[in-house]
Amino acid sequence: MYQIIDGKKISQEIKDELREKVEALKARGVKVTLAVIQVGDDPASSVYVGNKEKACAYVGIGSLVYRLPRETTQEELLQLVGQLNRDDQVDGILVQLPLPGHIDEDKVLLAIDPQKDVDGFHPVNVGNLSIGRPGFVSCTPAGIIQLLKRSGIQIEGKECVVLGRSNIVGKPMAMLLLRENGTVTVCHSRTKNLKEIARRADILVAAIGKPCFVDADYVKEGAVVIDVGIHRKADNKLCGDVDFKSVAPRTSAITPVPGGVGPMTIAMLMYNCVEKKLAIL
Ligand code: GUN
Repeated sequence: MYQIIDGKKISQEIKDELREKVEALKARGVKVTLAVIQVGDDPASSVYVGNKEKACAYVGIGSLVYRLPRETTQEELLQLVGQLNRDDQVDGILVQLPLPGHIDEDKVLLAIDPQKDVDGFHPVNVGNLSIGRPGFVSCTPAGIIQLLKRSGIQIEGKECVVLGRSNIVGKPMAMLLLRENGTVTVCHSRTKNLKEIARRADILVAAIGKPCFVDADYVKEGAVVIDVGIHRKADNKLCGDVDFKSVAPRTSAITPVPGGVGPMTIAMLMYNCVEKKLAIL
C-alpha cells in the first residue's frame, strides 16, 4: 500500500509552528509584514493573492496588498517596488506573476531588494542557493523538501529525477535535492529517453505543466512521486502532471492533486517571511 503525502496537513503544521513564532516575536514588540502586488485581475492570480492574505492573517503576519489596474505602467510598478524596498516596516515583497504583457517581468523581479525577495526569484538568491549560501529559496521546491522530510522520506543517496527546468520549480528543485545529497537528473522537453530516465528515479518530481503526462510507465516500482502540476480537466475536476490512478499503486508514496504540493507554497512563503525576521534579530 502506498502512502499519500498530505500537503494540507503538513502545511497546516508549518503554519501553526510559524504562528507560535510570530506570537513570540510580537511579545518582544517585533512585527512581520509582507507586501503583495498584483497587477490586473487574472482570476487565478486573484485567488492566489487572496489565499496569501488569508495565510498572513492566520499566521499573524501583517499584509499590505496592492491590487493595481492592468494599465499600470512598468515605471509605476518599479516605483512602488522601490518604495517598498526602502520601507523598514516591510519585510517581504512579492509581485504576483504573471504580469501583463507590457511589463518586463525580469526587470521587476530584479528591482526587488534581495533581502526582501521572499519568493526567492532574484538572481542573488538563486545564486546563493546554487553555491550553498543562506538566502531565500523558491517556495514550491522548498515546500517539496518539507513534504519529503516530514513524511520520513530520505533524500540522501537517492536517485532524484526532476521533470521540468523552470526557474521557479525545476531548477531550484534540483539544487535543493542536491543540497540534501540526492543524485539529481533534470529532464526537459528536449530530453531523449525521458521514460527510461524517469524510471530510474527513487524520487520523481513532475513539474512539466502537462495534465496526466506521467503514467505508470514512467515510474519505478516503489518510487516516491511528487506532482507539482495543477490543471482543470474538461469535467471541471483538478488533475496534476501525474496520472494518479495508474501511478499511485506503483509508488511507495505520492502527493495528491489537490492537497499535495499546492498548499505548501504559501506555507513556505510564510516561512520565508518569519525565518528572515528571526535571522536578523
Ligand atoms: N504565480 C504563480 N506562482 C507564483 C509564485 O510562487 N510567486 C509569484 N510571485 N507569482 C506566482
